[in-house]
Amino acid sequence: MSEHLLLEALRREPAERYPVWIMRQAGRSMAVFREMRKTMSFLDMVKNPEIAAKVTLQPVDGHGVDAAIIFSDILFILDGFNMGLDFRPGPVLERPIRNAADVDAMPDFDIDSSCGFIPKAIARAKELLAGRVPLIGFVGAPQTLAVYALGDGKQAGMKNLERFAVEEPGALEALLDLLSRACADVLIEQSKAGADVLMVFDTWAAALGAEGFERFAAPYARRVVELARAEDKPIIYMSRETKKIIGSLSMIGADCYTIDWTVTPEEARSALGEGPALMGNLDPEVLLGDADSITSAAEALLEKGVFDVPSLGHGVLRNAPEENVTHFVKTIQNYPGRPVGRR
Ligand code: CP3
Repeated sequence: MSEHLLLEALRREPAERYPVWIMRQAGRSMAVFREMRKTMSFLDMVKNPEIAAKVTLQPVDGHGVDAAIIFSDILFILDGFNMGLDFRPGPVLERPIRNAADVDAMPDFDIDSSCGFIPKAIARAKELLAGRVPLIGFVGAPQTLAVYALGDGKQAGMKNLERFAVEEPGALEALLDLLSRACADVLIEQSKAGADVLMVFDTWAAALGAEGFERFAAPYARRVVELARAEDKPIIYMSRETKKIIGSLSMIGADCYTIDWTVTPEEARSALGEGPALMGNLDPEVLLGDADSITSAAEALLEKGVFDVPSLGHGVLRNAPEENVTHFVKTIQNYPGRPVGRR
């Protein structure tokens, strides 16, 4: 079997065609998932390696995507610091971080009790995939996890992140430091269990603007990347609000960056140079349109030939019709143009 298309694309090597996969490709946008979900909670699904592995393969079978991403969540790491995570259905923490004293009192990270089921699910998904497509393992980035850790128990703590950054920057840095080591450990475990690609989700990377990104988000996400480098696997860094942080994104040192629709592919490429692979950047709303509009949006992106992994710039919306997702995937896979590569 030849090398997987996604791995070639992440190295920016020319290949026979573009690979495609989509963030949040598993989950509520798929009827087969919604059926399973009627009888089981999200936590019960994720924590059962057999079920999590099956869900991981649903978009591979259903849409024919060129990569699988392990069915899990970024927030389990917070449970490893005894914060009491639940999903009702949005994430809720029983014991969030409220002040500097809470950071000081954080226990040692317990990887096995909080995240032990993730490598098990990876190993099982690898068996079920039997080499069909590569498997992506992932963690959240420290600042993004901090947004949830600093919540009030019900809502993500964006306001508290801003307050901590101004009033308690030392405590915030201590929290980010603890989280970065835990994130790297969890990512490395996933690699050892068989993940082929490692991904760092930094959904709230731009929450403190460009300066905040450089001080609080990037150094700690970079640390996760540096520590995970020991595994010698390609690393993808995901962020949103690309326009705000594009000038400093390359600080992360990843092999691939996801780009959203706030910048053009050309702007992204000129800011990041020819080194890293780029993934993105259609607005997920495109998949709510009709087949013709999806074809033209995908082809317009493909004709630019800038992105190594043409896709959406963030996750598929839960109300995107399944046939639209499949049509989008096929449009990219059938594109006759020459895939990009480092020329
Ligand atoms: O297919 C995939 O993308 C893999 C699985 C995956 C999930 N969460 C499953 C999930 C991944 C990669 C994530 C990452 C994640 N989780 C992020 C970063 C990526 C992003 O999209 O920005 C964030 C911020 C979270 C935190 C989180 N998890 C929230 C805010 C919520 C509730 C809101 C929502 O979307 O429902 C979750 C729950 C969650 N994670 C669900 C799924 C399928 C829904 C659970 C359910 O069925 O009720």
